[in-house]
Amino acid sequence: MRKVQLYIAASIDGYIARPDGGVDWLSKVEKEGEDYGYGSFIASIDTTLMGRKTYDEVLGFGVPFPYMNTANYVFTRQERQPDNNPVQFIREDPADFVGKLREQPGGNIWLIGGGGLNTVLLNAGLIDEMILSVIPIVLGEGIPLFGGQPKETHWKVAEHQVFDTGLVQLRYLKG
Ligand SMILES: NC(=O)c1ccc[n+]([C@@H]2O[C@H](COP(=O)([O-])OP(=O)(O)OC[C@H]3O[C@@H](n4cnc5c(N)ncnc54)[C@H](OP(=O)(O)O)[C@@H]3O)[C@@H](O)[C@H]2O)c1
Repeated sequence: MRKVQLYIAASIDGYIARPDGGVDWLSKVEKEGEDYGYGSFIASIDTTLMGRKTYDEVLGFGVPFPYMNTANYVFTRQERQPDNNPVQFIREDPADFVGKLREQPGGNIWLIGGGGLNTVLLNAGLIDEMILSVIPIVLGEGIPLFGGQPKETHWKVAEHQVFDTGLVQLRYLKG
């Protein structure tokens, strides 16, 4: 079965964005020639999942849409007209949709986030793996990695890597 992989960066205190959605703090670990495995990860998946707020944040970056070679699903409860990007807006419950999607033939699925969508899929037992890049910063406030009411779930660390920028990358599998 296709794997759903959450690949995401968070602060030490577990935030994925500032309260206003800003991710400027990720630049703290930018380093010439270091992509923290992003290139090989993106080559290993063929589908992305995003909450509507994350999608709108990506649109606000002012760069061309970054996921042109994957199937992209954006979850919203609102009526939303298609735009020029290769995304499908999904109004169905994300857990129902992803439960069916992972039964279909295809490659692995990148759960981009954000925190709202992460919790829906976590609580439905639909996250198979998490690759978490911990950025060496305490933000103090922001949008949590798992918003709302995540259920207690147990994970084991399959891999860990410490980079000289201070970024620590952890790969968790269901424990
Ligand atoms: N650090 C990182 O690597 C990283 C990665 C990804 C995202 N982010 C950041 O995360 C922030 C967004 O996260 P977020 O938690 O605020 O929002 P989100 O999870 O991206 O989107 C939440 C939206 O998803 C839609 N949705 C559909 N069904 C839902 C359900 N059952 N439960 C919850 N939401 C449902 C709703 O859209 P409607 O309101 O349209 O109905 C809801 O408002 C952005 O600032 C983004 O930059 C950071």
